[in-house]
Amino acid sequence: MIMAMKERGEAITVLTAYDCQMASILDECGVDVLLVGDSLGNVVYGFTTTLPVTMDMMIAHTGAVVRGSEKALVVADMPFMSYQVSLEEAVRNAGRMVKEGGAEAVKLEGGRNVADRIKGIVAANIPVMGHVGLKPQSVNTMGGYRVQGRDDEGKKVIIDDALAVEEAGAFAVVLEGIPASLGAEITEKLSIPTIGIGAGPGCDGQVLVVNDLLGLSRVNPSFVRNYASLSSSVSKAVSAYIDDVRGKRFPSTDESFS
Ligand code: KIV
Repeated sequence: MIMAMKERGEAITVLTAYDCQMASILDECGVDVLLVGDSLGNVVYGFTTTLPVTMDMMIAHTGAVVRGSEKALVVADMPFMSYQVSLEEAVRNAGRMVKEGGAEAVKLEGGRNVADRIKGIVAANIPVMGHVGLKPQSVNTMGGYRVQGRDDEGKKVIIDDALAVEEAGAFAVVLEGIPASLGAEITEKLSIPTIGIGAGPGCDGQVLVVNDLLGLSRVNPSFVRNYASLSSSVSKAVSAYIDDVRGKRFPSTDESFS
């Protein structure tokens, strides 16, 4: 479906989801792909990186998202150290995402260095989405969260990685934190769809962390657009509730059992 959308020139919509209620709202809106991102380490659990996220956390949240969605393709992120150690572990953990979490596909970060993992997981009949450019799980070797591929050498690394991901059998690839011109160039070179986040408008689709889109996050990267300001709506609602309880206005008789 996602591949056919690229062929038809239709933009692919992807959002992260971490729980059942939100997944159900996003699914009803018609989003094409729900990504259970390991960004849940930041968004849900309050870690400063995604590195502490475990397989058990990912499986629990993937199950919740799967139960909330009917139409969207649910992709589960492979957390740090679930696929790095060996090919066997990578395939076994991808299998857990499908068997225990109910995911229809998995995503993992890396290019040429993980091509054998992608091949092995695809050979086990589990579709794989790649992820190149800024790779949050490599924060300690990238020198922080910075835009990648600004110079010719960096650009070549990302192009070669994206080609390796395609060659290994991935059905799509996330391009994160790269110049817009590079996002467009890679999109042109690949036959599989590219899904951009901070990679400009030239990608086949876009992904955002849903909490950022809704204005729930405290800090917003510059590539995010807030489509709502839920943080202030929640604050207003909760303050009104606190006032009503303290002022003995809640619950009313209508909100009480006779
Ligand atoms: O973990 C995540 O949410 C992601 C997306 C932002 C691409 O990898």
